[in-house]
Amino acid sequence: MRRPTARALAGVPALIAAAVVTPLAAPFPAAADSVVIGGYEVRAEESPWVVALASPDRFGPTRGGQFCGGVVVAPTTVMTAAHCLSTAVLGKDAASVRDLQIIAGRSELAGDGGQEVPVRKTWITPKYDPVTNSADMALLTLAEALPADHVLPVASEGDPAYEVGTAATVYGWGDTRGDGSYASSLRAARVSVLPDGTCASAYPGGRTSRYQRSTMLCAGDPQGGHDACQGDSGGPLIAGGRLIGLVSWGSGCGRPDGPGVYTRVSAVAPPLAGAAS
Ligand code: ARG
Repeated sequence: MRRPTARALAGVPALIAAAVVTPLAAPFPAAADSVVIGGYEVRAEESPWVVALASPDRFGPTRGGQFCGGVVVAPTTVMTAAHCLSTAVLGKDAASVRDLQIIAGRSELAGDGGQEVPVRKTWITPKYDPVTNSADMALLTLAEALPADHVLPVASEGDPAYEVGTAATVYGWGDTRGDGSYASSLRAARVSVLPDGTCASAYPGGRTSRYQRSTMLCAGDPQGGHDACQGDSGGPLIAGGRLIGLVSWGSGCGRPDGPGVYTRVSAVAPPLAGAAS
């Protein structure tokens, strides 16, 4: 920036300068310190149920090949979003991605901590509708069992954690600003369960996607600024120590008018053999 310009701006009272310089920024309060949007750093060692889904062949080795999130729901089972396994994401059928793996217990994707476990089998719920993203849930069977303390219990129908206003936390290595700034370390953001009506009016269908309360869950920050974003998909939304949702979709990231839409796991998950209770 040329010095005279900088000087001139410095003389403008801060409030006016902000209004002049960042009018478009107001609806997108996603700040520099976001994660997931508006988040904080967490240690994967302390949140061992969060895993990264990775394919270094397809996504490159820099961030361990991470492209989605997932959550350990039984020692050999990871739950994720069905759309993470689509050919649009993987470039081919999930079964033919030879190096599909999960990374557990590694905060820094570039590091070599934690455990890489190959995925032996993928299963997408037959309820999944790729057009509407309804029932966006898949299960991955791991080639080796993870320790039992990695397993997160899944909420069942009627769980009070689904009540509007419940505080919840979303985890992921996704975009922290909505501009392709992917996080290198695991982050979390605090959101709350929002009324179905909020997402139903934000996403009425037609030109936007349609929110379906039977298979989806609405969560976010009514003021904006705290949300999941691209790359967080499949990662967990947790309340009361239980898995209540999976990051699925939304309009932009961290926008007050674009709440996060999550998979309602209580409605979509099958009974999980060997899961913690
Ligand atoms: N579809 C995105 C993914 O594949 C997740 C987007 C979530 N967006 C949001 N605003 N909560 O990573």
